[in-house]
Amino acid sequence: MINSIENINLRPFNTMRIDSHCPLWVEFDDCNDAPAAVQIAEKASPDGRYLIVGGGSNLLFCKDYDGAVIHPAVKGWEAEAIGNGSMRVTVGAGVDFDYFIASLCAAKLWGLENLSLIPGTVGGAAVQNAGAYGVEAGDHIESVYVWDTRDNKFDVLTHDDLHYGYRTSVFKSPENAGRYIVLKVTFILSTQHNPVLDYGPLKRIDSESATPDSVRNEVIAIRNSKLPSVDETGSAGSFFKNPVISPADWPHIVAAASRINIAGHEIPHFLLPDGNIKIPAAWLIEKAGWKGKQLGNAAVWPIQPLIIINATGHASASEILDLENAITSDVNSIFGISLTPEVVHI
Ligand code: EPU
Repeated sequence: MINSIENINLRPFNTMRIDSHCPLWVEFDDCNDAPAAVQIAEKASPDGRYLIVGGGSNLLFCKDYDGAVIHPAVKGWEAEAIGNGSMRVTVGAGVDFDYFIASLCAAKLWGLENLSLIPGTVGGAAVQNAGAYGVEAGDHIESVYVWDTRDNKFDVLTHDDLHYGYRTSVFKSPENAGRYIVLKVTFILSTQHNPVLDYGPLKRIDSESATPDSVRNEVIAIRNSKLPSVDETGSAGSFFKNPVISPADWPHIVAAASRINIAGHEIPHFLLPDGNIKIPAAWLIEKAGWKGKQLGNAAVWPIQPLIIINATGHASASEILDLENAITSDVNSIFGISLTPEVVHI
């Protein structure tokens, strides 16, 4: 079934809780309705433009959107055993990602437990390769069933087609903007004991006795202690990506840190397999003095400064952008590092 609503405020459909209006909202819950939903959406704006929104948990509406918004609401899931303790689970893109993970953990299936409590839909997680605590959604995605609006056909993109990387996938490349409507996602999960506990705070879990549910509960406790609840405070999770620098740039960072009395060994950093160095954006923002600071109605979350919040519930997009620009400009002038937003700007 296709459901369309004219002239709506997108505030309930973006977790940053920003007021932004669009001429048409088109929602469908059956894969076969995708082509008709796209046609309806294309007719709603003069240039046929539309936007696909899942849970709206990684978006910043910078102003009103002049095209239609398509919301794939395909629900339901099916599972089949494929041997060696592996299960193939296919789930609708519109299913709440955390509800799905809770169900997998209850069924004692390993794989996605580290991603517990990430807001958004299964489709959104597949598009942006949601990640946390050493696991990325794409690690477990076998394929994605899509409506390809360019070639006008339903298609299955396999893991190799999906080009997963840090918070990115084939869906995010500019030439594919709006091309694919993600309808269903197929994960490979395991009944065999397989906890991933290498990431900082998870190391304290006893690996032997861990269950998907016990890891999930620990992840939920960690997230609740660090991150704002999107039900209570408008935010879009990590606002920036963690920057990656080349080893050649490391001495510049050390020199910059020493100018603000921080010794080189105090700079948190992680060596990547390709030899580059990842520096936590949260640390850079904190050292630039922005942790917990408020500018107008927008603020930096006091416990995890990678997160920008709608502090009063009344922040406008321009207030969020002003804060973003102030942070990026200060981090750049102190460390010479350009932060890039993780949140997609519309
Ligand atoms: N840090 C500080 N000050 C703080 C907080 C953190 O300096 O107040 C530094 C510390 O050095 C800490 C480091 O930042 O060790 C990393 O912090 P954290 O473990 O909280 O992770 P993150 O790199 O800031 C990433 C993801 C999160 C994900 C966590 C856990 C990105 C952009 N963000 O954050 O994802 O939950 O790791 O795996 O990669 C999201 O994408 O929306 C998101 C929340």
